[in-house]
Amino acid sequence: MTIIRKAVFPVAGLGSRFLPATKAQPKEMLPIVDKPLIQYAVEEAVDAGITEMIFITGRNKRAIEDHFDKAYELEAELEAAGKVKLLEMVREVIPKHINCMYIRQSEPLGLGHAVLCARPIVGDDPFAVILADDFMQTVAGQPSVMAQMTAQFASVQASLLAVQDVPREQTRQYGIVSAEPFGDRLEKVRAIVEKPSPDVAPSTLAVVGRYVLTNRIFSCLEKLGKGAGGEIQLTDGIAALMEYETVLAYRYHGRRFDCGSKLGYLQASVEIGLQHAETGADFAQWLAERNQLA
Ligand code: G1P
Repeated sequence: MTIIRKAVFPVAGLGSRFLPATKAQPKEMLPIVDKPLIQYAVEEAVDAGITEMIFITGRNKRAIEDHFDKAYELEAELEAAGKVKLLEMVREVIPKHINCMYIRQSEPLGLGHAVLCARPIVGDDPFAVILADDFMQTVAGQPSVMAQMTAQFASVQASLLAVQDVPREQTRQYGIVSAEPFGDRLEKVRAIVEKPSPDVAPSTLAVVGRYVLTNRIFSCLEKLGKGAGGEIQLTDGIAALMEYETVLAYRYHGRRFDCGSKLGYLQASVEIGLQHAETGADFAQWLAERNQLA
């Protein structure tokens, strides 16, 4: 039985929807309260038993490498000042048994191309893909969405796409699948298309940013030309993969916030702010008072 040990994080995107905040810093470093989006994504992978984190980076993304590296000066200063809790927090950003690797995607050729860049490190293994701007929240004590998916993979040994229903007017924002029943929360994908307009979308079942893929995806991606938006699309690679292997859609337990959009980002910030150990109670009170005034 093959276990998923590697995750690919495509982080080379420009983040143009968050300009000017993303002019000189990666969108994946935007915080939800006090933790950057990319750290939540890595924690989700760690929760799934993944130990090899592969980041597909681009220009302006140095902050991500620094975030997961040792911060000698900061640690020395916190230690000297006796700020033990903060020191622990900084040291625990990445657990010791985790390896982080970085590959530069020098041209923005699309998500499919970004995943293909990971091939030399991923090799023959099946692997996860995590898009950090899809922020996933699960109930405390429940496994993360990626942990749910790696557990599913352990039994089905087939590629998996996390899916959710979306309003028909939003199909243009997603890869959309048509599927037939397969098992509990699982459906067999019959067709997949990138960002169809609502009038031609085969369904309203949308792929969100969590995938478990077999390594055959690489040979499929390699043969692709440019697809929707002039980019090499992961969706087209998955469509090609389906000619060889079963691909399953998985209706995950949890709640997704589209932190690639301002509205989703604000919603996630409020939700996490309300749950935050330090600020939650005061923030809830402030919100309640504010709503009364409105
Ligand atoms: C990408 C994929 C799309 C998927 C989406 C999930 O699009 O191309 O198939 O549904 O992520 O967030 P993007 O949001 O990068 O435009």
